Amino acid sequence: MPTKIIEKEIEKLDFQSGGEASSQLKNKLRKLGVTNAIIRKTAIVTYELEMNVVIHSEGGVIEASVSPENLEIIVSDSGPGIKDLDKAFTPGYSTASDEIRKLGFGAGMGLVNVKRYADKLNVETALGQGTVIKVIINFN
Ligand SMILES: Nc1ncnc2c1ncn2[C@@H]1O[C@H](COP(=O)(O)OP(=O)(O)O)[C@@H](O)[C@H]1O
Ligand SMILES: [Mg+2]
Repeated sequence: MPTKIIEKEIEKLDFQSGGEASSQLKNKLRKLGVTNAIIRKTAIVTYELEMNVVIHSEGGVIEASVSPENLEIIVSDSGPGIKDLDKAFTPGYSTASDEIRKLGFGAGMGLVNVKRYADKLNVETALGQGTVIKVIINFN
């Protein structure tokens, strides 16, 4: 049975708290004795997914659960959904506005890195409704 170790709401355009879930999760994993390599991967994945909700959606929730075998991260949001998944996973592709780019986001590498570090990745998206992204990171 997986144990939920984090569940946190993510607010649209909340750059103040954006990234908090990612660092909370890092601390929990460290206490659980998870290796630094896994923690690093997890931090990248959760930060990118969290910031995508902040930047590209109307808000959502991040949840993470652990089992003896793996860590499962689920990030769901309400929002526009992702129109073209192939494009979204293309390095450098971003629909971020100039305003957002001035804040240092919109490099278009987020989903590419999520894919790189996920051992399993599932994306469900519905236009005008929202997106659910599930990532599994194995412990070995
Ligand atoms: N949660 C989301 N809701 C809607 N669109 C998204 C979401 N996450 C990603 N996208 C779309 O996929 C694109 C690529 O995402 P990403 O690789 O993280 O790059 P970036 O966030 O720098 O734009 C985004 O520009 C956006 O168009
Ligand atoms: Mg991104």
